[in-house]
Amino acid sequence: MDDVEEVLIPEAVLQDRVRELGRQIAQDYNGKDPLLVGILTGAFVFLADLLRAISVPCQIDFMATQSYGAGTESSGIVRILKDLDQSIEGRHVIVVDDIIDTGLTMDYLLETLKARYPASLRVCALLDKRPRRLRAVQIDFRGFEIPDKFVIGYGLDYAGRYRNLPYIAVLKPELYGT
Ligand code: IMP
Ligand code: MG
Repeated sequence: MDDVEEVLIPEAVLQDRVRELGRQIAQDYNGKDPLLVGILTGAFVFLADLLRAISVPCQIDFMATQSYGAGTESSGIVRILKDLDQSIEGRHVIVVDDIIDTGLTMDYLLETLKARYPASLRVCALLDKRPRRLRAVQIDFRGFEIPDKFVIGYGLDYAGRYRNLPYIAVLKPELYGT
């Protein structure tokens, strides 16, 4: 891939960690029939692998939010483009996202979901870009902490592209088009 500056997390490392997160969730949620809520579009690849690493009964649903236009900077405005198909009242909910960056999206989502009376509400994020945090977000299941670089691959995009890369990589900065 010519557009890749550097591979940050190779495929094998990624897969090992995702399987471990799945095992942890299976242990913690045995008998609780958790509902995994994937945040579209970025989380769909991660959720697909995570789901298959969870060996206890569970369900999934999706929400879609918008916080980034086609650029790399958060607008600070979160819109729900697609809501859940089902009620979460009394359910053990795990929100699954690709990356927590400023934390604005997750903070907003957690407030929204809390108001619907879930039995419990926790967060699973593949990547944690902590230096950029504007809102404190507790990440209960975290894949990797990464430096303040714009990353692509494994579901994460730049302007809708690169989601198909099987690893996490840093895009060549000259391609950002600032
Ligand atoms: P936040 O609201 O700033 O935490 O950003 C949340 C969303 O922005 C994530 O769910 C991603 O979809 C997107 N995002 C943040 N950082 C990156 C990145 O480095 N690459 C691709 N998408 C990102
Ligand atoms: Mg996202």
